[in-house]
Amino acid sequence: MFDLTGKSALVTGASGGIGGAIATALHGAGATVGLSGTREGPLNDLAGQLGGRAHVLPCNLSDMEAVAALPKQAAEAMGGLDILVNNAGMSLDHPDYLETTSAEFNRDLIHINCYAPTVLTKAVLPGMKARRRGVVVNLGSANGILPSVALLSVYAGSKAYINQFTRSMDEELKSYNVRVHDQCPFFVTTKISKIRKPRLDAPTPKAWARAAVKQIGYETVRTPYWSHGLMLMLIHSVCPAWAVNAYVTSLHKSFRRRYYKKHVKKTE
Ligand SMILES: NC(=O)c1ccc[n+]([C@@H]2O[C@H](COP(=O)([O-])OP(=O)(O)OC[C@H]3O[C@@H](n4cnc5c(N)ncnc54)[C@H](OP(=O)(O)O)[C@@H]3O)[C@@H](O)[C@H]2O)c1
Repeated sequence: MFDLTGKSALVTGASGGIGGAIATALHGAGATVGLSGTREGPLNDLAGQLGGRAHVLPCNLSDMEAVAALPKQAAEAMGGLDILVNNAGMSLDHPDYLETTSAEFNRDLIHINCYAPTVLTKAVLPGMKARRRGVVVNLGSANGILPSVALLSVYAGSKAYINQFTRSMDEELKSYNVRVHDQCPFFVTTKISKIRKPRLDAPTPKAWARAAVKQIGYETVRTPYWSHGLMLMLIHSVCPAWAVNAYVTSLHKSFRRRYYKKHVKKTE
């Protein structure tokens, strides 16, 4: 495993879910962590639990000025960053057709999922290149590397951006000993997935983070958790694209139907 002792890491979206678990795993491996998110309560709670080597850096990533200011705040708290984890992300509340979503919602999604990781990566690179040491971990999604993802097109598109951005930046920076990773989960039991109970195909954030942190410094694009890796291998080697498309479309249509049924029942 990449030696994390004494390294400094900024994790966005560390107020819960995968980001909180990754920050905890990095801290457990000896890193100093910067915990970013909009909800200060959970960030302070996590910093308290970690007890030292943890800095709370609140930031709303849909606010472009706040995004631009975050690297400076992190540098003031921790010095030069060795690791940046672009984990914060937003998705639709339920799969739906593009025309049901608002312009503001799609703008925020693209800001948080694409614009913020781009700006933060750009800001930390000069220091990493000068020190000839650094890793940027982007939280993509399996949705970004499937043949198509109907009813989640903007979210999937944002993660496809992260995938190509990562692969291109990794190539650009290899000779400086700076690596860029795209870690692509299928389901993990967090708020975004709305899955509460862990399953074979949906690990807890802690289990995901344990596997994810072990992969830092290795392959560019990874689904670090074993069952997700197996699923991706089957999708890419055995399943024809038309079958994957048909399955994902019918799954998302069924999620949409279930959402409206529940929603209508609640408002009756
Ligand atoms: N869970 C899954 O099944 C799954 C699958 C594929 C990919 N992913 C990706 O994994 C990453 C982490 O998601 P998660 O599953 O851990 O979901 P989550 O529990 O909902 O966490 C999302 C995180 O993003 C942060 N965030 C959202 N909007 C923000 C904003 N405007 N400014 C700053 N931070 C913001 C949240 O912080 P605050 O609440 O403090 O704002 C929260 O900590 C995301 O990029 C997601 O797309 C998750």
